[in-house]
Amino acid sequence: MDKGPPVENWLNLDEIEDVATKTVSRKAWGYYYSASDDKISKNRNTEAFRSIQLRPKVFIDCTKCDLSTNLLGNPVSIPIYVCPAAMARLGHPAGEAGIAEACRSFGALQIISNSASMTPEQIVADATEDQSFGWQLYVQSDRTKSEKMLARISKLKAIKFIALTLDSPVSGKREDDQRHGNVNNTMTESSSEGPFEHSESNAIKPENQTEDQVFAGMDPSLTWTEALAWLAKHTTLPIVLKGIQTHEDAYIAMKHGPQVKGIILSNHGGRSLDTAPPAVHTLLEIRKYCPEVFENLEVWIDGGIKRGTDVVKALCLGARGVGIGRAALWGLGAGGVDGVKRTLEILSEETKTCMRLLGVGHVKDLEPQHVSQHTTSPHTWQARYADTDGSTLARLTQGSLNKKYTMDHLVLSVMKHTASQSCEGVKQELCPDGCQGRCKRRTSERDSEKP
Ligand SMILES: Cc1cc2nc3c(=O)[nH]c(=O)nc-3n(C[C@H](O)[C@H](O)[C@H](O)COP(=O)(O)O)c2cc1C
Repeated sequence: MDKGPPVENWLNLDEIEDVATKTVSRKAWGYYYSASDDKISKNRNTEAFRSIQLRPKVFIDCTKCDLSTNLLGNPVSIPIYVCPAAMARLGHPAGEAGIAEACRSFGALQIISNSASMTPEQIVADATEDQSFGWQLYVQSDRTKSEKMLARISKLKAIKFIALTLDSPVSGKREDDQRHGNVNNTMTESSSEGPFEHSESNAIKPENQTEDQVFAGMDPSLTWTEALAWLAKHTTLPIVLKGIQTHEDAYIAMKHGPQVKGIILSNHGGRSLDTAPPAVHTLLEIRKYCPEVFENLEVWIDGGIKRGTDVVKALCLGARGVGIGRAALWGLGAGGVDGVKRTLEILSEETKTCMRLLGVGHVKDLEPQHVSQHTTSPHTWQARYADTDGSTLARLTQGSLNKKYTMDHLVLSVMKHTASQSCEGVKQELCPDGCQGRCKRRTSERDSEKP
């Protein structure tokens, strides 16, 4: 079978996905590629980044470019991390430990899935002193199972935090999975200890073992008040909430500090609720309606990242970490550890090139002023401005070089079509949980912004 050019000649993440598509089994391809329903969220995740334009500054010394930063206080060499993703061994026998090896050589952080195909002990076994991991949790109805896992995780010093996934209380409908015989409720990452029981023996189960016996065990009844209190009893590690999709929830998460230290804006790679917003839109909402979140929580983002320019745009808008899900799995499937390394190398190099062309030498200096209010995608543009009479558009265009207008109006346009309705609809539920009437205030603010 033609697997394409050698690893070092792969030029971009799409090429790597093409190689992986030819290399991995149909079952693995179906599982990794699939997303919910019509894959609208999956596709928009990437489109949304592409529709945002950059604003390069010139006459700036760009000899050096430093990607190092820290995530929850853990030093990392790049702001790009690997998202939790179930069943890496389905694509390559090196599995999650192979991804860990690649992350090690790039100083990148990795979040281990609750449904990984290897035990957390195996995955972190060769971790260096300065290597950082998170562990992702799907809470089980039988809480003792999750408690046992948390106790195990607390013994692994390479694991620095718990990422609690909230966007998949039930599995989305993923037809590529179904077509390839992966589901009959048999194969979803939304599981407890995973499709591979994390047995004390640490034995790696065969990679074709894809049964998910435990999805039925996942607890769909989690709430802000109950679940976080329970978690506080079973771990002292910092908590990151994964799957935040609205500014209201970001705000509530902030109210749960200091236990909650971060949020990951994510729609699960489009695998949960189709037509849920791309995470970058949620990032924009937060900038507009509760920017204080950035001061109180670390905001990370994932979904649709394929280019260094995507990474840079997320960082400009306030994200501190930028996650790749499928890209790491495709890298692994296409070329094992070397494939993941090449994926990280390409993204890092592209990120650096983008920053230097923007006139920025360090990730901390990326700011909203480096992205433009103008969008390139007609789809996005129409969706955003469909209800305006044209005067708003004219006003926005005039303000294009005005830093104050730039992000405000990008966000305003998003809000007109999303949160103004959803916020009113949910405000009564939100307030008792920590919103404290802010939804109401925000709604009236929003009204006054209508053209
Ligand atoms: C095959 C696959 C398995 C996944 N498994 C998990 C998981 O076990 N836990 C979780 O929180 N997210 C899981 N995710 C979601 C990722 O963490 C991440 O949010 C998403 O992949 C980011 O989008 P991207 O694939 O476009 O980069 C999975 C995603 C994929 C593609």
